[in-house]
Amino acid sequence: MKHEIVETNTGIMIIFIIIAISFGTLVELVPLIAGKQVKEPVEGLEPLSALELEGRDIYIREGCNNCHSQMIRPLRAETERYGHYSVAGEFVYDHPFLWGSKRTGPDLARVGERYSDDWHRAHLYNPRDVVPESNMPAYPWLFDNSIDGERISQKMRTLRKLGVPYTDADIEGAPAAVEGKQEIDAVVAYLQQLGTLIQTRR
Ligand code: HEC
Repeated sequence: MKHEIVETNTGIMIIFIIIAISFGTLVELVPLIAGKQVKEPVEGLEPLSALELEGRDIYIREGCNNCHSQMIRPLRAETERYGHYSVAGEFVYDHPFLWGSKRTGPDLARVGERYSDDWHRAHLYNPRDVVPESNMPAYPWLFDNSIDGERISQKMRTLRKLGVPYTDADIEGAPAAVEGKQEIDAVVAYLQQLGTLIQTRR
């Protein structure tokens, strides 16, 4: 039987397995690479401002993304709670993505504009002041640290190489835009723009 030839010959089996997996991979990948849907920014998407970008870096430094995902799945329970599910075009300027998979706290993909700046400041200073049962850590040092604007232009230049459309004026103006700001200002600015381009609930 022909079948037996394949099943008793490791070499041939390996070749067939490679063909099968390659075919599957191509079927999955080619439409994503060729199609526009996952590469085109959603309407109105702008690169993060200098202050928001600093906020994002602090968010990563503090490990916020270890407890908070930024990815709303297209499931009823999720969209009822968080709003419109996440779409690929919202993340084209994100390097790296902060989708995450662990939710100790709620998803933050659409947290922008849901609370006031004051709420975020109070919450980050001590979460228990506004959410008594919260087990989120406090981040009081964000109020003491001022932003070091030295590297912001370099960061933006690097992001531009990765396809984020910063203009020369954005990059030159960046140190001035973050001057005199505290880390808390940057984190709140970052949070307040998250997911605001697509809103189905407030
Ligand atoms: C150890 C896990 C943990 C870490 C780390 C963490 N959080 Fe949270 N976060 C939570 C939990 C739990 C809640 C829900 C209770 C509350 O609102 O405080 C929450 C709530 C929030 C909310 C309110 C979300 C909503 O929809 O009500 C925001 C905003 C937030 N966190 C931002 C941050 C930021 C910014 C950082 C990093 C500086 C951070 N979190 C770090 C666990 C965490």
